[in-house]
Amino acid sequence: AFAPRVFSGIQPSGGLTLGNYLGAMKRFVDMQEDGGYQTIYCMVDLHAITVWQDPAKLTRATRELCAGFIAAGIDPEKSILFNQSQVPEHTQLGWIFNCVARMGWMKRMTQFKDKAGKNAENASLGLFGYPALMAADILAYHATHVPVGEDQKQHLELTRDIAAKFNHDYSVDFFPLTEPVIEGAATRVMSLRDGSRKMSKSDPSDMSRINMTDDADAIASKIRKARTDPEPLPGDAKGLEGRAEARNLVNIYAALSDQSVDQVMAEFGGQPFSVFKPRLADLAVDKLSPISAEMARLMEDPAQIDAILHRGSERAREIAAPVLKRTYEIVGM
Ligand code: ADP
Ligand code: NA
Repeated sequence: AFAPRVFSGIQPSGGLTLGNYLGAMKRFVDMQEDGGYQTIYCMVDLHAITVWQDPAKLTRATRELCAGFIAAGIDPEKSILFNQSQVPEHTQLGWIFNCVARMGWMKRMTQFKDKAGKNAENASLGLFGYPALMAADILAYHATHVPVGEDQKQHLELTRDIAAKFNHDYSVDFFPLTEPVIEGAATRVMSLRDGSRKMSKSDPSDMSRINMTDDADAIASKIRKARTDPEPLPGDAKGLEGRAEARNLVNIYAALSDQSVDQVMAEFGGQPFSVFKPRLADLAVDKLSPISAEMARLMEDPAQIDAILHRGSERAREIAAPVLKRTYEIVGM
């Protein structure tokens, strides 16, 4: 009954990593090009401020993220590309969902525990509640599919729980049970320094990640120095089990080259890292340099970026406003 519609977002919290690109952006482009969905992509600035953001940097990071989307292949005509804070329906629906979600559900969110760390009492209320706002981001568009990395799986389950409880409590079939789309070789890109942690823009070590804006030398040197074990690559994909760092590099190669892990292993199985790493570095530079060059070009005209985001927010509101209006009616307001 619900038209196929994709929603996803990325926080403008400064810097984009290869993890964001392979786990999210590149797949957003695939779903845009698929043709079977309406695609809606958002810079989620209201999520970014759940932890302190310098105001001038937030403004810049939002524009840079928008430039990143476009440089990676999001077409603001084909997709709706906008900034969360410009569409007030997100926070309005978010409040309704604050009243649907249960404290016990929120307390189980592992990302809150990770991000709040040991001093959870001092975390913002927004950081604790953000998965309910995320549910509103998605459900304000009746989105049926959300492409994300594996780290967002639990939040997507919460979105479904909120939709189901709302539908049940008000005896309606109004919100869809949105499907997470967690697919491909790079649903969880790991740190280049530690195969047990995800690659993240908040990791203190810059050597742990490839940034979308890294130049060719930086990319090559980070891959050359990436931690690996001393053995050559195994003969096949099965042999990557228990070798997190090796598997991560193979996954990255597969995702960047649009191949399966088996195809990559058919080419590189048995090869030493001294052969594989330079090939991976060349591939990464090949794929990322045009994107970062285009980002830099787009950033020269911030007014143009702002105009794109403004137009996107108008198109987003055309969908979200009637959904909010109907939600209020269902609730009795
Ligand atoms: P971050 O986690 O870097 O702070 P966001 O929370 O804004 O970034 O996440 C944006 C998108 O990027 C989400 O869909 C998330 O799942 C994806 N993502 C982030 N890091 C990785 C990673 N290391 N591997 C795969 N996907 C990732
Ligand atoms: Na994340």
